[in-house]
Amino acid sequence: MGKYLCFFVASLAVTLYAPAQNQSCSPPPTLKDAYQGCFMVGAALNPAQFTGQDQAEDAIIRAQFNSISPENVLKWEVVHPQPDVYDFALADKYVEFGQRNHMFIIGHNLVWHSQVPPWVFEDDKGTRVNRKVLLQRMRNHIQTVVGRYKGRIAGWDVVNEALDEDGTLRNSPWEKIIGADYIENAFRYAHQADPQALLYYNDYSLENEAKRQGALELVRKLKAKGVPISGVGLQGHTSLAWPSAEQIDTTITEFGKLGVRVMITELDVDVLPSASHTADVAYNAASDPKLNPYPNGLPDAVQQELSQRYSDLFRTYAKHCGLVTRVTFWGVTDKDSWKNNWPVKGRTNYPLLFDRNDRPKPAFDAVIQLALKRGC
Ligand code: GLA
Repeated sequence: MGKYLCFFVASLAVTLYAPAQNQSCSPPPTLKDAYQGCFMVGAALNPAQFTGQDQAEDAIIRAQFNSISPENVLKWEVVHPQPDVYDFALADKYVEFGQRNHMFIIGHNLVWHSQVPPWVFEDDKGTRVNRKVLLQRMRNHIQTVVGRYKGRIAGWDVVNEALDEDGTLRNSPWEKIIGADYIENAFRYAHQADPQALLYYNDYSLENEAKRQGALELVRKLKAKGVPISGVGLQGHTSLAWPSAEQIDTTITEFGKLGVRVMITELDVDVLPSASHTADVAYNAASDPKLNPYPNGLPDAVQQELSQRYSDLFRTYAKHCGLVTRVTFWGVTDKDSWKNNWPVKGRTNYPLLFDRNDRPKPAFDAVIQLALKRGC
């Protein structure tokens, strides 16, 4: 009888993804528990997940993750759609969800060239504003948004994607109108608004040599000027083949030498044929059935490849426990990943650790096993 009860309790716990309760018949640990001595494990959330509309995912999130990022609700176009209009309805719910569940709450993001309304860069006649006006607008935005969540949002992606692939500064409206020092100004404004918050630079493809060198130089210059930057986010939108473990390892090590922490901030693994050479959200490729080979399920061989890939990625991250302070997935389950619609709309992708029915995939087990083997 005792044996059956134990089995029942263990299965129930696995089903609910609850942390281990009973050592003698312990279910697998959760992600956050497995990596507790190493780094936080986070996920980017959509509104259905933090407003109670998606109970199944809500349960996964509360059991598995100890940090959350907002997929969209803190972007400029959502919180500050018009010059005199701030809308914090969803952002407030996101932060309340994180506080209720005692999570490390991330703000994403303050200054980016995407998902920012055109009015930010124009006057009421549609003419481009000058440096002084744009700095003023940036400052007001940062003070209002960071100030509202002072002491509650623990870390902010202050500047997102300021670099081009060759490592030079992206010619964004921010850079064109303000000049290169828009970056340091954004960090200083954020620090003034919440001196305790950790402040990050966040970008993709920093594992590639040229872009990495540009980012290292940027961080070096910011540090030399005393700009309050605490960390660098490697977005981590990866594929089965790119970037190599060696590229990731070198990237983490090099940023570590500059005295900043490193986070993997938007992790997913694209298993579909490549349709793009960049992670720029502005890019879109045409639809083609050849680019969507697994509409009815992932073949076992690819499932195994994905598990191996995830195991390799976490082995590399865990090599840098303490320097890497957080690994955040960009989404929770395959069904709501942006990767189903970018860079080609309407594909069936499998980039995360939970499947379309909210069940843990073999890749989930691989990530847990890796932690158990390493003794994280
Ligand atoms: C970038 C951004 C994220 C998100 C993803 C795609 O990586 O930083 O906010 O938009 O693209 O969803």
